[in-house]
Amino acid sequence: MDILKTTPGRPKFFLTPSGGRARGGRSGGAQHDAPRILILGGYGRVGQEVARYLLKATDAKLVLSSRTPRPVPHWMAPASRARADITMLDVFDHHALLAECMRASLVINCVGPSGIVGDRVAVACKQARVPLVDAGGYDPLLRSLEQAEENDPTPVPLVINVGLLPGLSGLFPQWLLDVRGNKQAVDELDVCYVGRDAWTYHSAWDIVSSLGGFGVDRGCCYLSGREIVRVPMRKATRRIAFPDPIGKVSAMLIHAEEIARLAQQRRINTVRVYGANIGPRATLVCMLAKILRLHRSPERIATGARWLARASARDMRTLEPAYGIHVDLRYRDGSSDSATLTLADTYRATGTVIGITAHMLLEGHGPGPGVFLLHDAVQSDRFMQCLRKEGLLEIHPRPETAGMILKGVTA
Ligand SMILES: NC(=O)c1ccc[n+]([C@@H]2O[C@H](COP(=O)([O-])OP(=O)(O)OC[C@H]3O[C@@H](n4cnc5c(N)ncnc54)[C@H](OP(=O)(O)O)[C@@H]3O)[C@@H](O)[C@H]2O)c1
Repeated sequence: MDILKTTPGRPKFFLTPSGGRARGGRSGGAQHDAPRILILGGYGRVGQEVARYLLKATDAKLVLSSRTPRPVPHWMAPASRARADITMLDVFDHHALLAECMRASLVINCVGPSGIVGDRVAVACKQARVPLVDAGGYDPLLRSLEQAEENDPTPVPLVINVGLLPGLSGLFPQWLLDVRGNKQAVDELDVCYVGRDAWTYHSAWDIVSSLGGFGVDRGCCYLSGREIVRVPMRKATRRIAFPDPIGKVSAMLIHAEEIARLAQQRRINTVRVYGANIGPRATLVCMLAKILRLHRSPERIATGARWLARASARDMRTLEPAYGIHVDLRYRDGSSDSATLTLADTYRATGTVIGITAHMLLEGHGPGPGVFLLHDAVQSDRFMQCLRKEGLLEIHPRPETAGMILKGVTA
């Protein structure tokens, strides 16, 4: 078995210090192979960034998958090319997918759109008994995997929704609660995330689908206790100042399953989550897509995704990509705290977040078998230290000290 009992009742996935999977019993004693990471959708925007990070930060062998024959990516240095294999694979071909998963130490799924791929990659990973880190999946995959756990528990960790949103959007508040909020009871949590980039069609597809709550449209709402409180659209906006280059932003109340779960785990009573796509044309398309209810069917989502991909590409002719998360904590004693995280890039940061998660799992710093979101799967301070080392983010402390940017702050 590829597991090591660390704490009673919670087996941890066991990999060697360099990340190879220990395969006890196959040839007599345990034998440590070099880790082999399968990156599905390895030629996509996210997939390429994951590969870039893993080649730099680990000694793993990478297998990049694509549906069509591809050359080795031009940006790979000759030394890295020896560590990269290419395979042709369509994830709708279950047998081929299963065969590739069985040869891997870990699978990273960067195939999009998640709304079309569904649970087929996660199901193959369960069958192949190989851990999964998924760039997306979102609420539908979470629901489907959690339902399956009742009768068919996974033998490996399946870490889904690992990126910026969802992903870092849950881990950053978790980190803030861990480093600053641990000693006090938190009564209210407000999270606001904003971002812009030239979204690929596949990313845009999932964004348009998210506008309808991935099939469970709760409208504008927040959480009070376990109740979902609906708010009329005209009262659902929050204006918030992010550091440059983002500036002042109007964001709308949304339901975020990731933050709802975090709040439940940390016994936080009131939770408000605000989100905005902040490229000007992308914002208009998102509003239009919501009004026209383009999220209602795959065909309509596809139309919305084409509009959004085009509009966001035009936005980026004059603007740089940007991403920000602002978190406010209100403690039961009446005091408060807040912090803002900004990134000057979205796709590289998404790939880095996924790469760090995979690296942590390979090094034995991940969870045992089960279905996890990023903030459940990794230790927040360790993760943030790794991310800060990449030099991609800035953390701005409380508003009264805004302007003073702390790079690499720990608490
Ligand atoms: N959590 C986050 O913050 C976050 C951020 C960005 C993206 N994402 C998610 O990541 C996913 C990828 O986004 P992206 O922007 O990287 O898209 P992308 O650049 O279009 O890449 C997606 C890749 O999926 C591959 N693909 C599509 N259908 C396939 C199939 N049937 N079998 C095998 N491969 C297939 C395509 O590869 P070939 O054409 O080479 O076959 C394509 O390169 C999306 O689901 C998106 O929602 C999440």
